[in-house]
Amino acid sequence: MYKLIIRPILFWFDPEEVHYFSFSFIRFVSKIPFVPNILKSIYEVKDNRLEREVFGLKFKNPVGLAAGFDKDAKCYRELSNFGFGFIEIGTLTPKPQDGNPKKRLFRLKPDSAIINRMGFNNGGVAEAVERLKKNDGVLIGGNIGKNKVTPNEEATSDYLICFNALFDYVDYFVVNVSSPNTPNLRELQEKEPLTRLLQTLQDENYKKAKTKPILLKIAPDLTNEQLIDIIDIVNETKIAGVIATNTTISRDGLQSGNQSETGGLSGKPLKKRSTEVIRFLSEKSNKAFPIIGVGGIHSADDALEKLEAGASLVQLYTGFIYEGPKLVADINKAILKKS
Ligand code: FNR
Repeated sequence: MYKLIIRPILFWFDPEEVHYFSFSFIRFVSKIPFVPNILKSIYEVKDNRLEREVFGLKFKNPVGLAAGFDKDAKCYRELSNFGFGFIEIGTLTPKPQDGNPKKRLFRLKPDSAIINRMGFNNGGVAEAVERLKKNDGVLIGGNIGKNKVTPNEEATSDYLICFNALFDYVDYFVVNVSSPNTPNLRELQEKEPLTRLLQTLQDENYKKAKTKPILLKIAPDLTNEQLIDIIDIVNETKIAGVIATNTTISRDGLQSGNQSETGGLSGKPLKKRSTEVIRFLSEKSNKAFPIIGVGGIHSADDALEKLEAGASLVQLYTGFIYEGPKLVADINKAILKKS
């Protein structure tokens, strides 16, 4: 039904407009009595064999919604009705910002991919906190970043502002230094600045009555040498784990006419590299920390491949758009079949 009827209609319109329309639509219909229950009965796979305990948190299933979809925490409760085990909000920055000029989101249909150069458009962390106060049990990841106008030398204070503002309202944190759409952001992935940033956040974490897991989200474009550095940094700063991966700047093997748009590429063409990164980190670290696998999951088999490569949990973004919400249930059913 989704791929045959809904997707062709949605894909007729501008991708960013469709995104906002879908949000409004999902929020509107979810207010109708019984609709949330109907959605759950269709999409939610409930089985205690799907439950996972990862970095001290209990997930009802290992399939999450990746960051960037619900940046401002406007729709996480409604989206959780599609059967996700967790929802990652953000990337949030301390101050609201518009992001890059439109048009900044492109479908690469022949490649089942997306290029985006959104640039952390978001309403700021304070607004999101107000929305998160209404949470009634959805497991939430808070993905944090820095404002575009903040120079890298002062980035730590932006991450600290977001960390402290969100602390009481999210279950885990993600430090995003891997978006290709904020100028120079990815320089923060270098060993020294990254160690400093993560250590500062961990020190802040230790000041709290109970710490929360902090994860690092990395780019798929890191070299093996840089990935070894990442393992060292995770071990040294004792953060909870890694999310692999964000979007890529590579354009290898694409067919679509609009492939040269600037931005980060996601979807099917990212699958192989993202799985390679997961496998590399898992093997070279001797499974020292949990990994959330994300990048190009468009089928249950793609998700199983990420889990087999060493991921403890998986996340979807582009696959959710191309394949529809049924993908979440498909993955959970396939995991059950294997267990
Ligand atoms: C993203 N992604 C992303 N990641 C992040 O950490 N912060 C963000 O704000 C965003 N924003 C964003 C916007 C859009 C339009 C897309 C397509 C993606 C990256 C996303 O979370 C994920 O890591 C990648 O898209 C790879 O997964 P998929 O899309 O191939 O399943």
